[in-house]
Amino acid sequence: PEWRRRLVVIGCGYLGATHAACMAELGHEVLGVEVDPARLAALQAGRVPFHEPGLAELLARHVASGRLRFTDSYAEAGAFGDVHFVCVGTPQRGDSLGADTSHVEAAVASLAPHLDRPALVVGKSTVPVGTAASLAATLAALSPAPDEVDLAWSPEFLREGFAIADTLRPDRVVVGVASERAEKLLRELYAPQVDAGCPLVVTDLATAELVKVAANAFLATKISFVNAVSEVCEAAGADVVDLAEALGHDARIGHRFLRAGIGFGGGCLPKDIRAFVHRAGELGVEDTMSFLRQVDAINQRQRQRVVQLSTALLGGSVTRTRIAVWGAAFKPDSDDVRDSPALSIAGRLHLRGATVTVHDPAAGGTARAAYPTLTYADSPLEACRDADLLLHLTEWSDYREVDVAAVGRVVRRKQLLDGRNALDAALWREHGFTVRGMGRRP
Ligand code: UDX
Repeated sequence: PEWRRRLVVIGCGYLGATHAACMAELGHEVLGVEVDPARLAALQAGRVPFHEPGLAELLARHVASGRLRFTDSYAEAGAFGDVHFVCVGTPQRGDSLGADTSHVEAAVASLAPHLDRPALVVGKSTVPVGTAASLAATLAALSPAPDEVDLAWSPEFLREGFAIADTLRPDRVVVGVASERAEKLLRELYAPQVDAGCPLVVTDLATAELVKVAANAFLATKISFVNAVSEVCEAAGADVVDLAEALGHDARIGHRFLRAGIGFGGGCLPKDIRAFVHRAGELGVEDTMSFLRQVDAINQRQRQRVVQLSTALLGGSVTRTRIAVWGAAFKPDSDDVRDSPALSIAGRLHLRGATVTVHDPAAGGTARAAYPTLTYADSPLEACRDADLLLHLTEWSDYREVDVAAVGRVVRRKQLLDGRNALDAALWREHGFTVRGMGRRP
């Protein structure tokens, strides 16, 4: 059919691999570009080198059918693609709180010399506002057919753990364009989503770039708001879970992203709010975004609160105690430990002299690589053996299904600190545990 396109996806991490597999699922022919040799080899063999529910099956199916291929060659990509999605990472810079856009710049600069016929380059990475304008200049300077090459920006809002559903059925599609030609092609590409009822917002490049960072800043603010209130709850003897439930019934507020706990982590929210403040500063409007520094500080403080509460529960010092930690990933259904609050807390307690044993259903390997000095267990029960305190730090559903009586038999002291307010406190108390939460009545 006419709508079937030859698509290139540059950068095959969480975002790119998911996007490539989903575009193949929608019927397009897709070529993924990945420069990391180990990751490329895995993808070419039809394997996903990280944990994302459903992605392994989807990707393997389309690699087998030949609709999805992977390469490290920009020349091949340039010759193949009508549309090139840029999905490379923009981590926090080493020397400042700004975002490192060097991978995006390198991708566009590597691709541009091979774009000698009509092509659309679509940025999906999260970038500081203004990046697209500078990439458009790069394309114009380096492409042999500058009049036939367009740049658009279409930020991606997918959540890890829900990446496929978020890509195939997003809440909205945002496209920032600088030409009618680009708009027409993107409307065609996103027709499956739009026909299914998904709103499409068409705007300019700068607005599209900003939508993404503004969305993440809002989500981060919502979490830090409820975490700040949870501290007041604790001081006042109130309960933040009941409070959030009551707040959320106001449709203007809503229940989502109002779960108090140990705060947000991951490869997006923490670095995106810092990069947003940094960019606002470069634009001369730092003051207006400075509240995001508070959002960041409140978030960091939750980690310290858990360390302090743990210390108090262990009688004033954690030295020579045994602490079991359930969860290492920054959130459930992920093996991502980037800026994970759970591991950060585990690491601090270890530094203070506790023996910390960590379990995670999927992130054991990535956690071990990031924090090799912690002890790792293969099961939730094994992690609890002889523990003086159990910390529940990532709310995998596995932990809600553990046999509480069995945990009670292996621990040394029946103490639970539920950092995510997600376990059934009444059940644990029935089994003799002292249960503490975040912002909950003791
Ligand atoms: C986020 C955005 O949600 C997504 O739209 C964007 O594209 C990428 O960044 P992700 O990083 O996958 O997605 O995780 P998300 O589900 O947003 O959770 C972020 C963090 O916030 C996690 O550490 C989670 O545990 C924490 N969180 C979330 C809370 O502490 N409370 C909540 O109520 C919700």
